[in-house]
Amino acid sequence: MANQERILVVGAAGQIGTELVLELRNRFGNDSVIAADIKTPNYDVMEGGPFEFLDILDKNALLKIVRKHNIKQVYQLAALLSATAEQNPMFAWKLNMEGLFNILELGKEKIVDKIFWPSSIAVFGPTTPRENTPQITITEPSSVYGVSKLAGERWCEYYFNKFNVDVRSIRYPGLISHKSQPGGGTTDYAVHIFYEAKRHQKYECFLKADCTLPMMYMDDAINATIGIMECDSNKVKTRSSYNISGVSFNPEELALEIKNQMPEFTITYAPDYRQQLAESWPASIDDSVANKDWGWKHQYDISTIVNEML
Ligand code: NAD
Ligand code: SER
Repeated sequence: MANQERILVVGAAGQIGTELVLELRNRFGNDSVIAADIKTPNYDVMEGGPFEFLDILDKNALLKIVRKHNIKQVYQLAALLSATAEQNPMFAWKLNMEGLFNILELGKEKIVDKIFWPSSIAVFGPTTPRENTPQITITEPSSVYGVSKLAGERWCEYYFNKFNVDVRSIRYPGLISHKSQPGGGTTDYAVHIFYEAKRHQKYECFLKADCTLPMMYMDDAINATIGIMECDSNKVKTRSSYNISGVSFNPEELALEIKNQMPEFTITYAPDYRQQLAESWPASIDDSVANKDWGWKHQYDISTIVNEML
């Protein structure tokens, strides 16, 4: 990347943003990566390079920051996740859609050259084939979050086709990490379980024991994110969003892996409204199109994830 090409990460205090900023700074230099959020990020993000307080819904403030730092690439991560979105559907729709539009418009005006925006396995719904869900299949999401992600995918493709905006996207599965707490998703159980295992050697899970979902370790997700952004534009043939896959497991299987390393660990189950969201999502994902187009492949399996987390 040329020296003057600066990157803006919006949502930099979140679960993904925290690790993305650190890895981008590692690869491209601290001053090249501007972190932005409405809340204060952790110490490493705050002190490791430039930080700006920004509400992504404030178009003027966004433009000011983009011009001030001569930003050429934007990673737009600010959103309400599935569980939080169900508590406040209209605001979730506003934040998830307007946040994306504000960035896509910067692409349309040719102020920024390249945009990353994440979609989710939540674009799929109860009518989607659950096993090895293909890249192109039925997408009838039943959550407000899924509806906003599906609409976002269509808008990304539209801005690419109509205005030649270089926007790139992947459908993250549930992400597992330990540098920052997850922000209100249905798959967050697979992070909470480790904190509770360490603190109390037990965990009460809000999903059922046999609720299998596609999951991924954060290092894989960060590699996929920077991988799709750094590959040649002509390799990115899908401009809505790519399926990517890591591992699939259910709470019982994860608990067993933890028990292998911590025999005193126990799990109980008290499913709540999040179970219904999880049930509408795939159990496993076919990511062969991402593999063929830009060489995506995950590295972490369930035991390496558990090792890293514990
Ligand atoms: P998160 O909730 O941990 O982080 C989101 C960040 O956005 C937070 O730091 C929050 O303060 C910030 N934010 C919220 N409103 C803002 C606003 N108005 N202006 C600026 N910043 C604002 O979420 P995450 O897990 O890091 O997810 C990031 C993106 O990835 C989201 O679009 C999410 O839908 C997507 N995604 C995440 C997962 C996952 O498992 N974590 C899976 C699929 C997709
Ligand atoms: N992990 C996310 C969630 O549960 C999926 O997009 O909301």
